[in-house]
Amino acid sequence: MCAALTAEQLIVIERSPYKQDFPLLANNPNLTFLDSAATAQRPADVLDAERRFYETMNANPLRGLYRLSTEATQSIANARAHIARFIGALDDAGNPENDAIVFTRNASEALNLLARTVPEVVRLGPGDEVVISIMEHHSNLIPWQQVCAATGAKLVYLRLEDFSIPAAELEAKIGPHTKIVSVTHVSNVLGVQNNVAAIAARAHEVGALCIVDGAQSVPHIAVDVRSLGCDFLAFSAHKLGGPMGIGVLWGKPELLEAMPPFLVGGEMIDSVTETDAVWSQVPQKFEAGTQDAAGSFATDAALTYLEKHGMEALEERERLLASYLCEQLQTREYITIVGPSEPHRHVGAVAFDVRNIHPHDVASILDMSDVCIRAGHHCAQPLLSYLGWHSTCRASVAFYNDKADIDRLMEGLDTVWGIFNGR
Ligand code: ALA
Repeated sequence: MCAALTAEQLIVIERSPYKQDFPLLANNPNLTFLDSAATAQRPADVLDAERRFYETMNANPLRGLYRLSTEATQSIANARAHIARFIGALDDAGNPENDAIVFTRNASEALNLLARTVPEVVRLGPGDEVVISIMEHHSNLIPWQQVCAATGAKLVYLRLEDFSIPAAELEAKIGPHTKIVSVTHVSNVLGVQNNVAAIAARAHEVGALCIVDGAQSVPHIAVDVRSLGCDFLAFSAHKLGGPMGIGVLWGKPELLEAMPPFLVGGEMIDSVTETDAVWSQVPQKFEAGTQDAAGSFATDAALTYLEKHGMEALEERERLLASYLCEQLQTREYITIVGPSEPHRHVGAVAFDVRNIHPHDVASILDMSDVCIRAGHHCAQPLLSYLGWHSTCRASVAFYNDKADIDRLMEGLDTVWGIFNGR
């Protein structure tokens, strides 16, 4: 059973001072949005920024020599610098490593980029091993399955004890044959946070590279790539209040330099002949075609919004919300939490089962009361199979939620239970 929140903590989450900043939430006061692990809502500042880009500086970035185009180009450069500062990607002099920020369409594309290019740098082949964890989202699993199938390398899984990766597993599975370790920072199903610093340290001890899927961590906790000690970090803007369709890859500059391009075509070259091409500098080498300049401008605005309220304060509020969610779910004997029972171990997401009722039925009936949760395998089928589940419900919170959202979820779950049990 979770420890109950104190009266003071309950007062903190009683109301949300943030909902008014989010038009979709402000305009739909009866909507209970508990699916932020899938995508976050966007504040008006982000919507305004996207519109402002098209109204005031719309031109193709990097190509034009006229003012509008250079403004569009500058807006991308500003966004890169802001993202670099946000994730602590600073050089030794404390300057943001702008060129180490590569824009992609989403975290999945960033991870695909890595799976297609890093094996060449480490010369992955038969006898080598790629280590991932069993709690990976498909986006950090299928690309490595494919790489291993193509190169003859072996895919090795870090397994769990009480829903976490034990230190002994790092010692046992990351060894002399390991060339790449790729793990999620926070599980999108279990909500647990992995000790990425320890994983990166172990990877480096054996000469391997460490990739981190930050899709579920960067939106919720203050991430600092220098203290994590990883080599790459991938995440999506839409999960932190930015637009859909833009993702970020940060990598150590020397590794990005050594990697071949992923997609080829416009603006990622220095020169082209009939038979050959010379690649552009990093990060342009990885950004073929017209970039989503409006998206990066709006992502810049999303970070400004988060910083205005303070990532640490938002993180603390989310922990209280997740704790309250966990505690409430545990008050119902018909619910089983699929994940740790300790509230402090949940970053945002809590997966659960309603006894003998299919998660799709639960989610559909909740939807009739405008309560939004996710149901299914959460793009983590190997994890669910490993834990002995086929699918689950999942509620996930963000700082804009409040206690009433969770109370409405619980009322909805009681209704679902009542419908199926003749009450
Ligand atoms: N990866 C997202 C989720 O967990 C879509 O829901």
